[in-house]
Amino acid sequence: MEFSIKNGHPEKQNHDCVIVGVYEGGQLSDAAKAINVASKDYLSGILKSGDMEGKLASTLLLHHLPNVASDRVLLVGLGKANEMDERAYRKAVAASIKALSHGGVETAGIFLAELGVKKHNAHWKAAQIVEIASDCSYRFDHYKSKKPEHKGITKLVINVDKIGTDDAEAGLKQGLALANGVSFAKDLGNLQPNICTPTYLAEQAEALAKTHGVKVQVLERAEMEKLGMGSFLGVAQGSVQPPKLIVLHHHGGKKNQKPVVLVGKGITFDTGGISLKPGAEMDEMKYDMCGAASVLGTFKAIAEMNLAINVVGVIPTCENMPDGNAIRPGDVLTSMSGLTIEVLNTDAEGRLILCDALTYAERFEPDAVVDIATLTGACVIALGHHATGLFSNKDSLAVELLKAGEASQDRAWHMPMWDDYQPQLDTNFADMANIGGRAGGSITAACFLSRFAKKYDWAHLDVAGTAWKSGKEKGGTGRPVPLLTQFLISRVK
Ligand code: BES
Ligand code: MN
Ligand code: ZN
Repeated sequence: MEFSIKNGHPEKQNHDCVIVGVYEGGQLSDAAKAINVASKDYLSGILKSGDMEGKLASTLLLHHLPNVASDRVLLVGLGKANEMDERAYRKAVAASIKALSHGGVETAGIFLAELGVKKHNAHWKAAQIVEIASDCSYRFDHYKSKKPEHKGITKLVINVDKIGTDDAEAGLKQGLALANGVSFAKDLGNLQPNICTPTYLAEQAEALAKTHGVKVQVLERAEMEKLGMGSFLGVAQGSVQPPKLIVLHHHGGKKNQKPVVLVGKGITFDTGGISLKPGAEMDEMKYDMCGAASVLGTFKAIAEMNLAINVVGVIPTCENMPDGNAIRPGDVLTSMSGLTIEVLNTDAEGRLILCDALTYAERFEPDAVVDIATLTGACVIALGHHATGLFSNKDSLAVELLKAGEASQDRAWHMPMWDDYQPQLDTNFADMANIGGRAGGSITAACFLSRFAKKYDWAHLDVAGTAWKSGKEKGGTGRPVPLLTQFLISRVK
């Protein structure tokens, strides 16, 4: 979708559609008022008819209004004027884009950036419109032989007051960079696992280096063997796909600035290994690389923003397959840190690849390390699909991430990681087991990782419930790219 900023009169815009807001109780927004005046009270008539009550996110599409240049006018309900906050605003914008996504509207002018939203200016509103419009119009139909007849909106003109123009232009740019990062992460998640292999992810990282000036290095199995990554390579040994350790660098800050390191779980398919998963919905385990995808998406976003900060990305990526050479329950692996791990369940593989990546991250002398992983089904049971699970060994870092989640509406929830849980990982045969029983499964997984993150401030984001949607709307969400990008933006300020 193409976006632009304009300072136009709603009745004079010649688009397939103009989008204007109506508050609950029938109060018209300024743009709706202008349309109403031009069309000789047409909208007042509609309100009287009861077809549009202004309820938040309700929509009504009108055709051929007198003296209005565009063919259609979309009325969108804004809810109560005094309740217009971030969430209400996002809902209204999303509803208007969705209402037009299946019809014949290709060009639209949106007049929602002039609305008053508490604490926010044209920069924020333009960025929101770009992010939401891009999110709502996302499709993954590369592999459908018949493409849908109607593409939905391809050109969206965001109208703002004259004084807001510069802010809105900057907001558009920032929103677009984030939208591109999110959609990249969605694509990687949605892509089938016979194509999106560890090698493919490495190629994508290398492509990012070419187009976005990111520095990329890919470590192969032999180099990882030298580093002693016995835990990561243990998981990888059951697959014919070679494992990769992808390392990315975004140098936006001063040379001596310590980097933030983002570590993303990149299991391109998780069968469970010898502890094989049941068949139902196993296809969704192609999304087990969404942590990796979020790191790549965030790199794309911050590179396009030229963000003035140093960031390193570390992506351990492999498949988890059952095979004659696969690890078995009972095997003991020696991690890069030297700590030994008894594998009691080969399906708890995420932590086995992340622990070596966390040890590897030490060499960057990080200011903070954040790992992102579709780590546990237990996290989905605890928090459902709305919040990402957040664990940290440093409260101030946790607070930063929580705030970034609120600001980007990509929220996380702080979970406990008290020492009380640690003994659940005890075993008679190694330094630790890779599982801690059913109770508090997402917490014991975080406890496991914490043992490899002692040398720096660290946070862990369990995105098992938020990185993709199941059912009719099955698809990657691009989360937590908005949270991570906002976290890095806030660090620059
Ligand atoms: N990738 C899964 C976690 C997962 C499962 C995410 C379902 C989203 C939906 C992970 O590798 C896994 O299999 N975890 C096990 C851990 C268990 C064996 C301790 C789980 O959650 O069942
Ligand atoms: Mn697993
Ligand atoms: Zn997994």
